[in-house]
Amino acid sequence: MFKDLPADAASAHPAWLYKAITRAWPEQANAVFEANNTHPPMCLRVNQQQHSRDAYLAKLSAADIDATTCQYAPMGLRLSSPCGVEALPEFFAGAVSVQDEAAQLCTRLLELQPGQRVLDACAAPGGKSGAILETEPALQELVALDIDEGRLERVADNLQRLDLRAHYQVADAADPQAWWDSQAFDRILLDAPCSATGVLRRNPDIRLHRRASDIPELVSLQRRILDAMWQCLAPGGILVYATCSVLPEENEQQIADFLQRHDDAHSAALDVAWGIDRKVGRQLLPSNEGADGFFYAKLVKAAATGH
Ligand SMILES: C[S@@+](CC[C@H](N)C(=O)[O-])C[C@H]1O[C@@H](n2cnc3c(N)ncnc32)[C@H](O)[C@@H]1O
Repeated sequence: MFKDLPADAASAHPAWLYKAITRAWPEQANAVFEANNTHPPMCLRVNQQQHSRDAYLAKLSAADIDATTCQYAPMGLRLSSPCGVEALPEFFAGAVSVQDEAAQLCTRLLELQPGQRVLDACAAPGGKSGAILETEPALQELVALDIDEGRLERVADNLQRLDLRAHYQVADAADPQAWWDSQAFDRILLDAPCSATGVLRRNPDIRLHRRASDIPELVSLQRRILDAMWQCLAPGGILVYATCSVLPEENEQQIADFLQRHDDAHSAALDVAWGIDRKVGRQLLPSNEGADGFFYAKLVKAAATGH
């Protein structure tokens, strides 16, 4: 039906994005376009403070909801067909959250331990804050920060449903002088504002609203937030940088540039089975049966040297 259309129009992507994806991922581009044009799967994260994944799978089965386990996210389930959350057993009691498998993968990278002070630097609407607290409920503190007050309220609502607690901070992560108490964080998750080009299948309007000229602006914002967050990280601490973008400028190039500017940072190899290994970090591309497009890098700060 589309054989007479130019390739970008046939793929139902704007020309600039078609070019950017084809240039970045020449071998995978067609599969990415196809995945972007299919309905996304509905995935759940089982709240491990309430149920094992198998126990919740049995509850779904008893409610006649067909699901399978996610391949990589240990608490992830994929529904065979989407349903309203009110149909999910114990949803309002916090038994599960709706979250794609890719987004669930951040917690293991953070190497969470009891007693740590953790910052979720761009937290709203709170999907990853919930995952962090379910994985390690004995943190000293989770600070959930976002620049958008209305969106931060959604974090509070989501955590309340899960019966979890955080300290909420409305602030600009790029300007720690305005809000930071100078107590270093052991772990920082920076789920940065980005082009969202890895989640087009969930947000089709991005194809219409996003412009090529947005990308350098986003790269510059990510850079400012990254540099600011690095000051707030304790020596020996870990910062996980994440985006739901498939564009290298926002991902591996952003982190490679960061490493050039910071002698006290190194990018740790990710010992995981998912994604495509990059010079720094790992990239997931959206796939029909699999996860959304995501990028993760794990940055470790040099330990303080004693005198
Ligand atoms: C990708 S979303 C975060 C999603 C969230 N981590 C989750 O898992 O639910 C990016 C967030 O960054 C916030 N943001 C954008 N610029 C910011 C800044 N300068 N400081 C703090 N937050 C910012 C946006 O309001 C948005 O909520």
